[in-house]
Amino acid sequence: MKAQAALVHGTRRLVAAGIEGAALDARRLMAHALNEAPDRLTLRLQDDLTETEQAAFDRAITAREARQPVAQITGRRLFWGHEFRVTRDTLDPRPETEILVAAAIEEPFAKVLDLGTGTGCILISCLKGMPFAVGTGTDVSPAALAVAQDNATRLGVEKRARFAASDWFAAINGVFDLIVSNPPYIAEDEMAGLSVDVREWEPLGALTPGGDGLDAYRAIARGAAPRLMPGGRVLLEIGPTQAQQVSDLLAAQGLERVEVRQDLDGRDRVVIARKPLEGGGCGCA
Ligand SMILES: C[S@@+](CC[C@H](N)C(=O)[O-])C[C@H]1O[C@@H](n2cnc3c(N)ncnc32)[C@H](O)[C@@H]1O
Repeated sequence: MKAQAALVHGTRRLVAAGIEGAALDARRLMAHALNEAPDRLTLRLQDDLTETEQAAFDRAITAREARQPVAQITGRRLFWGHEFRVTRDTLDPRPETEILVAAAIEEPFAKVLDLGTGTGCILISCLKGMPFAVGTGTDVSPAALAVAQDNATRLGVEKRARFAASDWFAAINGVFDLIVSNPPYIAEDEMAGLSVDVREWEPLGALTPGGDGLDAYRAIARGAAPRLMPGGRVLLEIGPTQAQQVSDLLAAQGLERVEVRQDLDGRDRVVIARKPLEGGGCGCA
């Protein structure tokens, strides 16, 4: 069968399974089956599929029918211009998290801590954007840490990145001039409203801390000030309704110049705060 015909058939299966964006998903899965870059797929559509390619495409379509996210099926996700390995143990990096990376590299930093690193996408992207910086990525999931370490090696920052198992700050020593985190923030009662793709396939511990969704921010806010250098910044990704509460948590720990950044849809997405300079100066430019 030609790739084009298989693609049409696979797209129909995904439409019948109620998958939104079925055509695009089928194209990405065909590119994966052909081991081809997605933007080169059109050049291969008149090729006859080998048995192996046909079987790989069928398997991928079956997995997507079962709502497995495309990035988990292909094992990769493009984030901040870099390709990250993704597995069932890691959150699939989201485009809105790039807002946090953009804000982080607006100012120079030398030593960054990424709490809840997952694939390592934030830490590694920050290090790629700041060539002399070093950083630490932490997670409670050893499987996620192994993926992050692998991504650091693939993307050439392994000499500047280290990874450690830690419950937020519990195993962290030293101080940093930048602390970043995209912690789990979905409230327990919001979980039922998530799509099946997310709720049943992504790691629960990456999605929700339980309760009102704010416990990770409470822990991070408590631990951040002692681990920040004077004038250092903390940047936290948030859910769109959490800006005020997270800002208050950071301010209550003596962090200042709190600001909120929006994502491309205009929703609150990142809270930034700073540790005061010693001697009480505000650190304003
Ligand atoms: C929302 S995911 C973010 C992953 C990645 N930083 C990203 O932006 O795609 C949250 C991550 O925090 C980790 N995590 C959950 N509880 C944690 C804890 N108590 N201490 C450290 N990491 C934790 C999860 O395993 C998960 O990898």
